Amino acid sequence: MSRLIIVSNRVADLEAQVQSGGLAVALGDALRTVGGIWFGWDGKLVEGGEPAAVSKNENGAVTTATIPMTERDYEEYYLGFANKVLWPVCHYRLDLVHFEPGYFEGYKRVNCNFATALAPLLAPNDVVWAHDYHLISFASELRALGAKQRLGFFLHIPFPPPELLQAIPTHEWLVEALFQFDVIGFQTENDVSNFHRFIENHADGEILDDDRVRAYGRTVIARAFPIGIDVDEFANAAQTPEADSQIERLNRRTVVRSHIIGVDRLDYTKGLPERFKAFRKFLEMHPEHWKAVTLMQIAPPTRIEVEAYANIREELEGLSGAINGEFGDFDWTPLRYVHRAMPRDTLAALFRGSEVGLVTPLRDGMNLVAKEYVAAQDEEDPGVLVLSKFAGAAEELEEALIVNPYDIDDMANAMQTALRMPLEERVERHSALISRIRTHDVAFWRKSFLKVLAEGAPEVVA
Ligand code: G6P
Repeated sequence: MSRLIIVSNRVADLEAQVQSGGLAVALGDALRTVGGIWFGWDGKLVEGGEPAAVSKNENGAVTTATIPMTERDYEEYYLGFANKVLWPVCHYRLDLVHFEPGYFEGYKRVNCNFATALAPLLAPNDVVWAHDYHLISFASELRALGAKQRLGFFLHIPFPPPELLQAIPTHEWLVEALFQFDVIGFQTENDVSNFHRFIENHADGEILDDDRVRAYGRTVIARAFPIGIDVDEFANAAQTPEADSQIERLNRRTVVRSHIIGVDRLDYTKGLPERFKAFRKFLEMHPEHWKAVTLMQIAPPTRIEVEAYANIREELEGLSGAINGEFGDFDWTPLRYVHRAMPRDTLAALFRGSEVGLVTPLRDGMNLVAKEYVAAQDEEDPGVLVLSKFAGAAEELEEALIVNPYDIDDMANAMQTALRMPLEERVERHSALISRIRTHDVAFWRKSFLKVLAEGAPEVVA
């Protein structure tokens, strides 16, 4: 049987209680089921010089193999090309792009270092699956070292329209490098169609049948594989005696009757200032909810060295202070803003104890929080998910209250609709949502991708 080799920038601590990225959670679940290696950066920074040695750590069926990177790699590849160029472009934010020539060299170098360190650990039958925007050129580096294995890539974030992609000076090189994979997975049909448009109109390529795409002398499979969660695992975490006591704590000694919750990395893509403004609008429009409703926003820090992230933090602190100053009272804090990561179990309990879940990104690859909120609800008395039309999840979760995250009034109205929604309608919407996320869960995602990767199209295998 083939081993599965997962490659991603960050290798999560599989035992950790606190996880901030959906990617880490989804991959940990996938790898534990089939066994193999998870390769990536160990999160450490070292002086330059000798090529870094690989550290291995066996954890049940999963071996983690990691290398450190240099300060320079971190600046140029991680903070630079990945997070000041690719991240904003893929999230439609050209205004936040900051490009320096060294960034691209750093990106190529780290992809090459990753490939060089992983190559000796590979067996001929291994199947390699690389993840996310950090590793677009990974297959091309591995092929240059002679790798013949099946190589798959999954992009967790949106693939931008060609008009935006072209803002990256090296975009052609990147797309050509991507074609060294055999299978390219996207979150949504919208991403696939953006990719097709680039290939047809700017790469002289062809869209063939059976999800195949031909360009740069290669035929690859490119299709959507919407990522899911382990529904039972999350639902069970929301139903433990500890979860009950967390919910009891949430409701204790307070005048508040209803909780609205949001959980997002503190990222400018998540639409948090717009969400806070919508909550302020909701309070202005509905004084009957004063002292009766709180919005709890949990927003763990992320990529704090990047200026755009420092700016968004400042903006949110200002907004939350202003809202609490204007509406709060000695016995009521309307907006509880927590700038810290929380254990998954606590999040599951808080989701279950909240009548409304707000997932309102300006742009998001999928957004697993939307699915986790649904999974955590009591089936007989579920809360309501308010979901941005620009989250990948909106292609699937159409029974949520779908909002335009740029439209503050629309979101304020959705909060009111959600809080006033009759039980029967809540149950109806929830049961449709939960059955969909159950069918399309993380195991379904992994199996669908790996099946296509293992079989491939005849031309690809040849
Ligand atoms: C998103 C990305 C992941 C990334 C995570 C955390 O979910 O798609 O690839 O790992 O954010 O971001 P960080 O920069 O801390 O790894």
